Amino acid sequence: MKLVFATNNAHKLQEVSAILGDKVELLSLKAIGCNDDIPETADTLEGNALMKARYIHERYHCDCFADDTGLEVEALNGAPGVYSARYAGVAHDSEANMQKLLKELNGKENRKARFRTVIALILDNKEYLFDGIVNGEIVKEKRGGSGFGYDPIFVPEGETETFAELGEEKKNLISHRARAVQALQEFLNRG
Ligand code: IMP
Repeated sequence: MKLVFATNNAHKLQEVSAILGDKVELLSLKAIGCNDDIPETADTLEGNALMKARYIHERYHCDCFADDTGLEVEALNGAPGVYSARYAGVAHDSEANMQKLLKELNGKENRKARFRTVIALILDNKEYLFDGIVNGEIVKEKRGGSGFGYDPIFVPEGETETFAELGEEKKNLISHRARAVQALQEFLNRG
């Protein structure tokens, strides 16, 4: 089965491909000749994932899926959530995003947070949503050097190390993205 994954992030493509296995041939946006900056202007993860998948489906008429991820912090009513990439204003400035989050949580007892990934799949013209969650908490200072985004300040439930200390291999076994992709894989295997 051929599926387009609406990303050009080689890292994500490889991570997802490893979970989906041989039965699924994953194609990147580049592979189908799409160089567009696909809009993601919805105010929910579900909305953004669907927006990206529909964008590809409408133009390329292929089976495809897209993902969107956010860090949801309980004491901040779910923020930064869908705005995780640009929490501090500038997109993808991880250092500024982490500093802002640590400041917002300063003095707060409740440090509970969760990463949530939503995948929107369009298969045979039908839409499906899957999600993957990893619960944990935000530590007071950054620890560890691997990963990206908020990894240095997030400790998943049952662990004492941050995602950035655990390392990519271990993180990828338990991450929100891995769980969402596993849900997708189970669905594809059933069909
Ligand atoms: P995206 O939807 O995968 O692009 O993720 C949106 C934003 O959420 C990223 O820019 C990061 O700030 C954050 N994020 C997503 N996944 C992770 C992760 O696995 N670790 C840390 N931060 C993440």
